[in-house]
Amino acid sequence: MIELNLILLGPPGAGKGTQAARLVDDFELPYFATGDILRAAVTDGSELGTVAKRHMDAGELVPDEVICGVVIERVDGPNARDGFVLDGFPRTIPQAEALEEAVSKLGRRLTAALLVEAPDAEVIRRLSGRRICSKNQHTYHVEFDPPKNEGFCDQDGSPLIQRDDDKPETIAKRLEVYHAQTTPLIEYYDTAGLLRRFDGTRLPTEVHDHIRATIATLRLESDL
Ligand code: AP5
Repeated sequence: MIELNLILLGPPGAGKGTQAARLVDDFELPYFATGDILRAAVTDGSELGTVAKRHMDAGELVPDEVICGVVIERVDGPNARDGFVLDGFPRTIPQAEALEEAVSKLGRRLTAALLVEAPDAEVIRRLSGRRICSKNQHTYHVEFDPPKNEGFCDQDGSPLIQRDDDKPETIAKRLEVYHAQTTPLIEYYDTAGLLRRFDGTRLPTEVHDHIRATIATLRLESDL
């Protein structure tokens, strides 16, 4: 069986985290989400967190030189030997090149770049209604995926909170940054033959089924 080295691409709120959680369950892969790593650093008050918070609250990207080492260290780690799911990295061409270099140094290659697409209007609706578990990052939406008890996580009962960068003005900035700095990666991975596209406006279960079918096909092709 081939190792699965997957990256998830797409605008903020397209459902990358939602799909990553399902893929991690399906394939038992380690999951590295740069947004989660940076938010944890902010909570810890570490040096990384102090630098990251300024950029995240403004809806900007954290500088490449700050984030690349954080991710490469994990991809190179012992629990990623059979593969990984990267969510939110790479987000710029220099990040993609740094990942490519690190993966090839390990004698490996990326399996696919999974692009979950959603238009800006849908992203705004989703992010403004998103609520997350204050303890374990479980994700809900006040309209599309409400918890059973309003304001509390179904899985561990913790209070639900809104992310600081899900305020309307920051969402607009994040979208602008996505279109300017991250969309060039679509062509980058398409040219490399790694891009697979998914319609993120479908139901989460439908998006998941499509991604799983695509991964099954990739595995079959690699066995031929
Ligand atoms: P990050 O945390 O990665 O945020 P993001 O990419 O903007 O993505 P989100 O987590 O907002 O959305 P998602 O696509 O995961 O959607 P979700 O599944 O939650 O990054 C935050 C910040 O960190 C960045 O702005 C930047 O500052 C910094 N950063 C991170 N990585 C960096 C990097 N590599 N370089 C530099 N800086 C970096 O879903 C959203 C909502 O929609 C939820 O409420 C969900 O329930 C709902 N939903 C999901 N799927 C569906 C569906 N199919 N139908 C209806 N509703 C759905």
